[in-house]
Order: sequence, then C-alpha cells, then structure tokens
Amino acid sequence: MEEEEVTDLTQTSTEESTEDSIDLKLERVTTENLKSVRILVTSIFPVSYSDKFYQECTENELTGVVIRHGEAIAIVAVKPESLECGPVLYIRSFGVHPRYRESGIGSFLMDFVAEKCKLLNLKHVMLHVQTSNKKAIGFYKKRGFNIENLVPKYYQRCDPPDAYIMRKEFL
Ligand SMILES: CC(C)(COP(=O)(O)OP(=O)(O)OC[C@H]1O[C@@H](n2cnc3c(N)ncnc32)[C@H](O)[C@@H]1OP(=O)(O)O)[C@@H](O)C(=O)NCCC(=O)NCCS
Repeated sequence: MEEEEVTDLTQTSTEESTEDSIDLKLERVTTENLKSVRILVTSIFPVSYSDKFYQECTENELTGVVIRHGEAIAIVAVKPESLECGPVLYIRSFGVHPRYRESGIGSFLMDFVAEKCKLLNLKHVMLHVQTSNKKAIGFYKKRGFNIENLVPKYYQRCDPPDAYIMRKEFL
C-alpha cells in the first residue's frame, strides 16, 4: 500500500452471513460507487488515501473493485512506474474486507495484477507492505513475491513505520 495519512481502523460487523456464493467480478470505480470504495479503503488500511488517489482510480482501468449488495468489498489498484531498476507495475492498494477474506478474493485480485502486467508488457510487480503485516507478506510470498528491501520509516504515521519492498517477476 502507498504511504499516505494514517487513520483509525474501523470496526467491522460479522453479523452478515458470507455463506452464499459471491459473483467474482471486478468493476471500475465510478462516481456512483466511490463513496462505498472510500468506506472500504478506510476500514481495511491503516493509512488513508488522498483525494488524488480516488480521482486517479476513476480515471483508468488500473483499479478494480468487487461490489456485493451495492457495497465495495475488495479493491486492487496498480500503476506503471519507472524506477532506477527499470519499469515496474506498482501495487498501490490491495485488500479485501475482513468479512470476505480467505475465500479466494485476494487470489482473484492477483489475477487482475497479472493481467495488467501482460497488457502493459511489464515483467516486474512491486509493492510496499508494513513489516508487521505477516498475513499479507505470507500471502504475497506464496504467490511468488520476494522481500527485496527494508525501508525504515516508510510509513510516517504507522506503528511500526517500516515497510518491506516485495517484488515478483511475471514471465
Ligand atoms: C492479504 C489479503 C488481500 C488476502 O486476501 P484473501 O481474500 O484472504 O486471499 P485468498 O482468500 O485468496 O487467500 C488467503 C487464504 O485463504 C484460503 N482460501 C482461499 N480460498 C479459499 C476457499 N475457497 N475456502 C477456504 N479457504 C480459502 C487459502 O488458504 C489462502 O491461503 P494461502 O495464501 O496459503 O493460499 C487480505 O488478508 C487483506 O485484505 N489483508 C488486509 C489488507 C492488506 O494487508 N493488504 C496488503 C497491503 S500491502
């Protein structure tokens, strides 16, 4: 996730059943679903994203959201970047609402990343992840990402503030 401002994690309800199957489909961020996307993002990430981020999400096909009963429940946002080491696809945001985790949605989001890599002819995918986020680190490692670097104090308002850069080569 990108380094942005900190916000409190919102408590989530577990009342609703997730047993009925979910139609896994990624939709564009639009002015209609933007409010719901913002609620999702503020509830799952310990950082809050700028208005510019949301604006950019609506402008191209590099962001996808899963909508269920009119509510955004997962988001993936990527961006091509030119780094010293060469061009990469950077994962700006990647997350699933807690109620819907461990049912394959994260893996589905990763398919979107692979598809955009192919489309943009980019071989490398990169992301920052908070060093304490063992679950996400394990998830990425299992899908072929390696820890490349430690970036101390990457997140200005998170504890811990340190991030790993993780990278995967898509062939
Ligand atoms: C990391 C994250 C995106 C994973 O999303 P997810 O939807 O739980 O991912 P999946 O369901 O595809 O896979 C997670 C595990 O669920 C299990 N699982 C997947 N499909 C399943 C199914 N149909 N039934 C039972 N279990 C299943 C698998 O064991 C999988 O584990 P694995 O990694 O060992 O394969 C999610 O934990 C998250 O949103 N975390 C908070 C946000 C975050 O940290 N994002 C990363 C910022 S860099």
